[in-house]
Amino acid sequence: MSDWIEISIPSLRGKEQKYLQECVETNFVSSVGPFVNKFENLLAKDIGLMENQTVVTSSGSAALQLGLLALGVKPNDLVIVPSYTFIATANAVSHTGAKPWILDTEMQNLTIDPKKLDKELELRTFKQNGFSFHKDTKQKIACIIPVHVFGSPPDIEVIKLIAEKYSIPILLDSACGIGSKYRGKKLGQNKLSGIISFNGNKTITSGSGGVFYSSEQIIVDKVRHLSSTAKCSNKYEHDEIGYNHRMSNIQAALGLAQLEQLEKIVQEKKIIHQNYKNEFNNLKQCNLISDPPWGESSHWLNAILIKKSNSKNIEKLIQKLKSYRIRANYFWKPLHLQKPYKNNLQAKLDSLNDIQERILILPSSPKLNRTDQSKVIEIIKSFFK
Ligand SMILES: Cc1ncc(COP(=O)(O)O)c(C=O)c1O
Repeated sequence: MSDWIEISIPSLRGKEQKYLQECVETNFVSSVGPFVNKFENLLAKDIGLMENQTVVTSSGSAALQLGLLALGVKPNDLVIVPSYTFIATANAVSHTGAKPWILDTEMQNLTIDPKKLDKELELRTFKQNGFSFHKDTKQKIACIIPVHVFGSPPDIEVIKLIAEKYSIPILLDSACGIGSKYRGKKLGQNKLSGIISFNGNKTITSGSGGVFYSSEQIIVDKVRHLSSTAKCSNKYEHDEIGYNHRMSNIQAALGLAQLEQLEKIVQEKKIIHQNYKNEFNNLKQCNLISDPPWGESSHWLNAILIKKSNSKNIEKLIQKLKSYRIRANYFWKPLHLQKPYKNNLQAKLDSLNDIQERILILPSSPKLNRTDQSKVIEIIKSFFK
């Protein structure tokens, strides 16, 4: 066990060992096994959906890719993604052969900016045969991917209205969103398709893994079919080019044990967030990213946004915390500044150019104790003095 205060490490204190042992003892170690169904069913219940409306996958990235395909995204289509996201969002689009169209982010919670989204669509698209197309490139706008950032939901109802106006399907990248709420609704209650990641650094983990969820059964069934090589009989017949993206029973065993503790973990993260909030609220040089007006974050990660006018260097703070064996770090580099995407269609995104130098993510593991958190807080406060 490291003596570092880490940013986000799993909290394995439930039935993880027992369930993994069961996998070994029963020989169910691959993609067939009772934990896969149990994990899918409990997930569906926890996010407010019915059984059969979730498909667990080998990663959140795989769930994104399958979701896009099931929603009808085709090569050379355009898919709208916010610039402030993990590169996996854009990569999933690229893997379908479509192209990310990179749009802007609001500066409060760093989720996609609905006003700018609406304006871009109004200015740059035209409608034909019930679909929207880009005026310059004539590409079809096949999907919008709003992203949960640090666990905060985007403004879903407003985005939905815009998407309806332009007839564009939505796929929610709620990779970091399990435990969050939008206007009191859990993820599955928004009547949208979406994904969650269970990577090792997430709120709960299955080692590596993800889930696709949707209230549209036909889309769920399509994702399930594609995820298991599009097999349609037990005589090795496949009716299209599918993928091997199913989750294994071992991953699901770990995921289930974690999911059983979700409520507790989210509660612990809420307390950690509240402690940071109490201490950082009055700092002039930075804001703690907190719940948006339209919902509750899962508080997957806590982050401070350093104000533009401030001259303090984030690298110095990272190094200072490091000298006390505390891990804090830079976060996502926006998509429009990333080598594979810098030439993609994009809005004017200047406000995000320096965002990476202004965001610091802080220790947020559920087991972070009060003494360690106070140490983190004191060092940051003394840095900004
Ligand atoms: C916003 C976002 N989307 C997608 C992913 C991809 O999930 P995974 O790592 O499970 O493939 C992540 C993972 O960190 C993420 O943060």
